[in-house]
Amino acid sequence: MIRVGFVGLGHNGLAHIEAHGDVGLSRVVAICDRNPDRLGEVAGRLGIGRTYTSAEELCADPDVEAISVNTGDPFHVEPFVAAVRAGKHVFVEKPVANTIEQLEEMTAAARQADAKLKLAVGYVLRFNPVFERIHDLCRSDKLGRVYYLEGDYVHNLLVQAEKTDAHTGANWYLETEKPMVGGGSHPLDLLRWFVGEEVVEVTGYSVGAAFAAMKEDDCQVALFRFSGGAIAKVAALYGPRCAMAPFYNLKLYGTAGTVERDTVAIARDEADRHPEFSPIEVERVTGHPYEPEVRDWLEAIRDDRPPRCDFFDGANSTAATLVACQAMAEGRTLPVKVYGWT
Ligand SMILES: NC(=O)c1ccc[n+]([C@@H]2O[C@H](COP(=O)([O-])OP(=O)(O)OC[C@H]3O[C@@H](n4cnc5c(N)ncnc54)[C@H](O)[C@@H]3O)[C@@H](O)[C@H]2O)c1
Repeated sequence: MIRVGFVGLGHNGLAHIEAHGDVGLSRVVAICDRNPDRLGEVAGRLGIGRTYTSAEELCADPDVEAISVNTGDPFHVEPFVAAVRAGKHVFVEKPVANTIEQLEEMTAAARQADAKLKLAVGYVLRFNPVFERIHDLCRSDKLGRVYYLEGDYVHNLLVQAEKTDAHTGANWYLETEKPMVGGGSHPLDLLRWFVGEEVVEVTGYSVGAAFAAMKEDDCQVALFRFSGGAIAKVAALYGPRCAMAPFYNLKLYGTAGTVERDTVAIARDEADRHPEFSPIEVERVTGHPYEPEVRDWLEAIRDDRPPRCDFFDGANSTAATLVACQAMAEGRTLPVKVYGWT
């Protein structure tokens, strides 16, 4: 059993602890939250004896082999850096970071880490069976050359205004959350994964219209250009008066076929100009597929193989959306740096 420690015991951290229990390859031996009330309550409920209010101390615990970082978006950096410096395998929730400066600090720490460590990022949509099948369609060239893609994160998150942290009195969502990064990086990560290329350039627009309490604009739209020439559009809206967009409004246009949400149309031959759409034939799952995501990270550790979304892969999805926000703020097109081991 892999001995895991958790940092961040909010809704997301608890959902991940539950997924670890379901997978059965790990034992959660220690937990950490800077909020002592939350820490005590979760420790009592789950019967976990070793507790810490500092990630640094958790990471110094020699009994912990792997750390799951489930703190809010602006607070991934400190536990992530402490964990890789302490030689632990790490799972970090998406977005990897909330600013380019944080991302630089984390990528620098990852580059210095032991290459054997399994560093995974929580872009959980890669584990949705529909998106796995679309990825297969792209990899097997069934759609031909994919040259235009769309994906949206249209999600009414007004409820976040009510979630002030009882310990700090702050609300990171209202103060620092960027819809294109926190939400939009989900579909952008899928599009990067589908197209198999890096984003090289981005431009965008934003407007604050429907979520007055947020400091950042609640509607952000960006256009991304990939290294092979494909183009993508991602919209991230946090205050729409509608239910969440089904299948992230995904659209992929290839020279031989098209994907629209969870349906696909593939041309039989050159003459077949209007192939019919049919449902992608896999199971539909609701909610977040945390269980296969956690299983993938734990099996990567056990089998000494890379996780499906390794650290630099996930960092590049986050980076492209962070630069998108910068492009919106500056009103210009910006190049996107690609992060890697060197
Ligand atoms: N993959 C997904 O689809 C998905 C879904 C939901 C949330 N998330 C991500 O999960 C993360 C957590 O989300 P949440 O809603 O549970 O956040 P939250 O703010 O409700 O909970 C985070 C917890 O971390 C603790 N914390 C913050 N900084 C800390 C630090 N330095 N050391 C120790 N504890 C610290 C806080 O006290 C809090 O209890 C976010 O990055 C969010 O974007 C991902």
